[in-house]
Amino acid sequence: MGAQEAACPACTAFYPIRSGIVDMLGDPPAAVAQELRGLAAENAIDTDSEGLGAVKFMEVASIDSPAAVLDRTRNDRIQYYQLTTSSYLEGLSRCLLDSNLKVLEIGADLTLWNLRVLKDMCAEAVAVNIYFQVVTGAPVPDWPLRVLADMNHLPFEDGYFDLVVCSATLHHSSDIPGALAEIARVLRPGGRALVVNEPVAGFAKGLGGGQGHDRNHLIHEVPVTFAQWLQAIRKSGLQADHFLPAWYTRRLRFGGPLPAGTRFAGLARRLGPVTKHRALAELVSTAGRVPGQTVLGLPLNAVLWKPV
Ligand SMILES: C[S@@+](CC[C@H](N)C(=O)[O-])C[C@H]1O[C@@H](n2cnc3c(N)ncnc32)[C@H](O)[C@@H]1O
Repeated sequence: MGAQEAACPACTAFYPIRSGIVDMLGDPPAAVAQELRGLAAENAIDTDSEGLGAVKFMEVASIDSPAAVLDRTRNDRIQYYQLTTSSYLEGLSRCLLDSNLKVLEIGADLTLWNLRVLKDMCAEAVAVNIYFQVVTGAPVPDWPLRVLADMNHLPFEDGYFDLVVCSATLHHSSDIPGALAEIARVLRPGGRALVVNEPVAGFAKGLGGGQGHDRNHLIHEVPVTFAQWLQAIRKSGLQADHFLPAWYTRRLRFGGPLPAGTRFAGLARRLGPVTKHRALAELVSTAGRVPGQTVLGLPLNAVLWKPV
């Protein structure tokens, strides 16, 4: 791994670069250090002997392709990557895309696929995470720019980005209102943030085979109710265009029976006939969104617009 440095044009500080990744995290704040220790435990890294650097720059034999990631969950009852990918793409279609975009992904997927689908529209693309995988000896990818940083303290100037994308990441923040305020700060007026696949703690989450926290206990995944999400978004000053992904009703209409054990499969079965009627399916998608999120805990999916 070659070591270099990057100079910040605004503050003249220097940041180390390893394997093409700019380390702006340095000695991480306590909450991030804890999250890194959780990742270390999940990946059999001994931070006592190797330090947190071994997590930030996580050496692996190879980095999975997006197809390999999708393969992992194809036969699961939840089909996590199939559904989160579909919600992400649907959300992008609501972002009023353009060319020459300056795009930031927070909590970048390690395949960097979320940015790659936007590549031809990007003037600049920055992937932020608290760790990246590196393959010793492999060519260093020169796109997108990978930056180690904390979403609660984004190291970018005000109003720099046109588009921020963030999937299943904000709920890992120890300060969600603070992270949303950071997103609002780095967006230009008229810019958009796509926030998708964020878990919501619904009142009935324990019913219907609810998902618990199945990660290492050091990983920060605190349940957030829909009302708390709304409050945090309101505080950021961003204007939310919420949506329920169309695949919810299309899957019931065209996709055949849901796999055994799917959450709320009984309710979905009862809704099945309703979704055969297009207009009723649209009604379920719109009128059913808030009760679905508040009670059942359907994920938060929204485009957040920064007022001009
Ligand atoms: C559930 S994963 C989601 C990954 C990916 N965006 C996806 O949709 O599959 C949450 C991501 O947030 C990252 N993360 C956790 N805390 C963070 C922080 N303080 N700042 C930036 N990223 C963070 C994690 O490393 C992880 O990659």
